[in-house]
Amino acid sequence: MRKKIALIGGGNIGGVLAEQFAYRELGDVVLFDVIDGMPQGKALDMAEGAPLAHADASLRGTCDYADISGADLVIITAGLARKPGMSRDDLLKTHLGIMKSVAEGVKANAPDAYVIVISNPLDAMVYTFKEISGFPKNRVVGMAGVLDSARFRAFVAWELGVSVEDVTALVLGGHGDTMVPLTRYCTVAGIPVTTLIAQDRLDAIVERTKGAGGEVVGLLKTGSAFVSPALAALEMAEAILKDKKRVLACACYLEGEYGVQGYYVGVPCILGAGGVERVLEVEMTADERKLFDASVEHVRTLVGQIQL
Ligand code: LAC
Repeated sequence: MRKKIALIGGGNIGGVLAEQFAYRELGDVVLFDVIDGMPQGKALDMAEGAPLAHADASLRGTCDYADISGADLVIITAGLARKPGMSRDDLLKTHLGIMKSVAEGVKANAPDAYVIVISNPLDAMVYTFKEISGFPKNRVVGMAGVLDSARFRAFVAWELGVSVEDVTALVLGGHGDTMVPLTRYCTVAGIPVTTLIAQDRLDAIVERTKGAGGEVVGLLKTGSAFVSPALAALEMAEAILKDKKRVLACACYLEGEYGVQGYYVGVPCILGAGGVERVLEVEMTADERKLFDASVEHVRTLVGQIQL
């Protein structure tokens, strides 16, 4: 039987996700949005393109949560995109109400689903979803580190003129200005990047990574990045659907790991059929730990503003 994928939010990221899931034949797609006609129209367009993409998968749009019933995987992008000058945190108030109703809708209709949250501010939204739904921590994960690491990898590859495929990177902490790209854990085909790129250039790459989402918002002016976030979530989804046991940086609910209790923070984990199967704890230098702690503190402050 084909997997059922429910995408909550039919905007730019939801649209790319729908197309990729269907055209890669990863499962049948239900695209949900509250704007009547929009998810239906997008899904119909993509379904009519399926013969050209040589893809057998059904795509349908809906405004009714009942249609996500029995979904194996749910990806949440619901909310507004940032405008230039806005931080992800500025979306907290608006998105809190949206996330609460999404969590109720998913809980009522797809109680066994694995859930990937993309909506911002990410670490607070994925926390809200978990609290409202009551889903176990292994089934609720946030997409951030894969995207931040992909940006870091791209910048390193461009700097060295090498394939993006050969660069691995790890970005920890919250998905915001305090994120922690760890240069010590970045390698090019196993070679530490610190031996290939001068410190001042690496510092610039780290700064660019931290502001990368904002850089795209500043250029687009009417929205935020959507292709790379969708592909990042897709990588996580494939790891779960195909039980790949990928080691990816994700926003995971921590209960003691990294000395954090009861918050979502970006850390490396093993993603497989059981969702977040294990959190991996990496060693940090005193300086790295300071940055990580500051990022966790930021997440704590943000979550502290949430009233459920
Ligand atoms: C970004 C959004 C998805 O980083 O948070 O572009």
